[in-house]
Amino acid sequence: MALTNKEKMLIEDNLNAEYLCIRKYEQYASMATDSQLKQMFTDLANKEREHANTLKGMLQGSNVTPQNIFESYTPPNGDQSAIQGNLGITDAQLLEDALSTEKHVSSSYNTAVLESVDSNIRKQLQHIQKEEQEHAETLFNAMNSRGWYKVN
Ligand SMILES: [Fe+2]
Ligand SMILES: [Fe+2]
Repeated sequence: MALTNKEKMLIEDNLNAEYLCIRKYEQYASMATDSQLKQMFTDLANKEREHANTLKGMLQGSNVTPQNIFESYTPPNGDQSAIQGNLGITDAQLLEDALSTEKHVSSSYNTAVLESVDSNIRKQLQHIQKEEQEHAETLFNAMNSRGWYKVN
């Protein structure tokens, strides 16, 4: 089934968000000081890349040619955690920003799910949205276990 204009637009919005997530998580993997967090950000970047590929697949055959300045970029070169001191960045800040991003992305997928006409597209978007909520959970747990997210 051909995508509606609204479906195309919302899928493209989400694809742009995925490119930003990939870039951000690769950078955060490089910037984090904690090796567990480095691995977590690397894993997240890889999952976001799968999402981007799924969305690109959805747009194939439509007349949309996604143009994104973040699709290709020079990834960070090895460990850059020494940058934290100079910029006043902390691992807690990286997690907080990542969690905020996941909350935004999850609601963006929610909109795309609700505007889906094609049931196959809707199912795939629902699946991705669930994974975004799981990313938020992973990030929340990483913060909470380090005392960086006060729940009470
Ligand atoms: Fe994603
Ligand atoms: Fe995510």
